[in-house]
Amino acid sequence: MTYNRRKFISFLGKASIGAVFVPPFLVNCSSTTSPFEKGTISKRTLEKLKTIALKHLAPTDRDDLVLTEGLHYHTVLKWGDKINDKDTFGFNNDFTCFIPLDDTNPKDGLLWVNHESVNPLFVSGFNHREFTNPEAHRTKEQVTKEMYNVGGSIVRIKETNGTWTIVENDPHNRRINGSTPIALNWDEAIMGKNTVIGTNSNCSGGLTPWRTFITCEENYDDCFGETVYDANNNPSHRASSYGWEKFYNYPPEHYGWVVEIDPKDGTAQKHIALGRFAHECCTLYELPNKHVVAYTGDDANDEHLYKFVSSKPRSLKEGTLYVADTLNGKWLALDWETQPSLQKRFKNQTEVLIRAREAAKILGATPLNRPEDIEIDPITGNILITLTNNKRKNDYHGSILKIEEHRGAFDALTFKASTYIAGGEENGFSCPDNMAFDMAGNLWFTSDISGSSMNRIDRPYMPFKNNSLFVIPRYGKDEGRVIRVASAPTDAELTGPWFSPDGKTLFLSVQHPGEQTKDILNPTSKFPFDDDEIPKPTVVAITGALIEKMNNLQLLEANV
Ligand code: FEO
Ligand code: CA
Ligand code: CA
Ligand code: CA
Repeated sequence: MTYNRRKFISFLGKASIGAVFVPPFLVNCSSTTSPFEKGTISKRTLEKLKTIALKHLAPTDRDDLVLTEGLHYHTVLKWGDKINDKDTFGFNNDFTCFIPLDDTNPKDGLLWVNHESVNPLFVSGFNHREFTNPEAHRTKEQVTKEMYNVGGSIVRIKETNGTWTIVENDPHNRRINGSTPIALNWDEAIMGKNTVIGTNSNCSGGLTPWRTFITCEENYDDCFGETVYDANNNPSHRASSYGWEKFYNYPPEHYGWVVEIDPKDGTAQKHIALGRFAHECCTLYELPNKHVVAYTGDDANDEHLYKFVSSKPRSLKEGTLYVADTLNGKWLALDWETQPSLQKRFKNQTEVLIRAREAAKILGATPLNRPEDIEIDPITGNILITLTNNKRKNDYHGSILKIEEHRGAFDALTFKASTYIAGGEENGFSCPDNMAFDMAGNLWFTSDISGSSMNRIDRPYMPFKNNSLFVIPRYGKDEGRVIRVASAPTDAELTGPWFSPDGKTLFLSVQHPGEQTKDILNPTSKFPFDDDEIPKPTVVAITGALIEKMNNLQLLEANV
């Protein structure tokens, strides 16, 4: 029997399981849903769950995507692959998101992939490691190439006999890149424009309840720099590290937003109401009245966690942006109208949103240790946020923060914050980044130890070796333990975990293999082991008995 989420959810109904926080829009798109409320699982099922033997993968520095027993992978797409007659797959793939074209067939749909950044050595032929001032040396042609390789890709993919492949030249296949015109979802122009040029620094993302892709602009200041203000509110330009502004003088204020992409035609818009900062991701929840709650974190040392609550159904424009005071458990409104302290520094709400980081600090938001990915636990409704690290504060290994909204209401204005799990040798992981819950409510997450610190005897990361993928089982004999199930190639991080709608495939990005390469003829990694021996960011599909068991598919099929 083909596993079908809709059937499964109706099974949940029959089993009269209590409150399950499955966002309904994810039911057919995967990457969270939950079968069991703890305590309602039959003894027989529990006994079977206990028999799942997860083999912990030892840390390794092997240049390969190493998987634990019961998992296999194949390549779906990699940098430079043709996706249509004129476009190629971009660089440094991060977030992935799969939407089936037709809910009755989980094996055919559209894959969105973020392209976060470029390694100039590979992309434009500019060896940035040889220069202390890269801006002075890039040509316009090199910058243009780099701009093409960021943004995102929409690619139709299909699974046949267990293998996912691209549907060549499908009309949906397209690139959104650093030069694509994108409208601002806001009434007021920003730096004189209502439509801006391009998206960049696309790190993680999300899926809207109306099934469009969300891609988030993270380290946007790398591309066109940043406008900074002194104590007297006088602006000046801080240069970017890529030096793109030398040839393309676009205002920094056009970047650092949450961007929505329509899968059908690639139409994009930037959502100003969600604020401007280094957005890692954006995780949405639809309330019964169709108002939307969107959680998003600012991945930088001592930056903040935000949530937007809409005041109209399915709007990402009308509503209030809040920032978290995790010490007092309060959501503080970034609202110019009602906050006199913001009126003193900013001339209107648009300015508050553009300079959200400053506004958050004025209100007393809690500095956090680099908030990255955010997921809603499908069983408890708690919000989990990875805090990757904060070396300045001697937090080398990070943790996962848990937010419990007051009475479980996602639009509540108060909450309780606590640590869900801390990184470090005791728990076997460091620097948590992207997360995904599978259909059984197991938590899968990746690590992001920076390439310059990994496998170095003089850094505290040595015991962890290469970046990895972990799972925390919710049931069975490994319940609550952190199990390493995959290890990344040299210098790479694993990003963008996303489950297919039937729960049988985990899409995963292998980002920046060979990142520390200085000589292109002698790369530090050769992943994915092409004939040209050039390392390439790659999206893989992970399948196998372990995923099927972890998702309890056989058990569920037997029960449905
Ligand atoms: Fe692009 Fe915060 O990782
Ligand atoms: Ca990340
Ligand atoms: Ca995620
Ligand atoms: Ca990261």
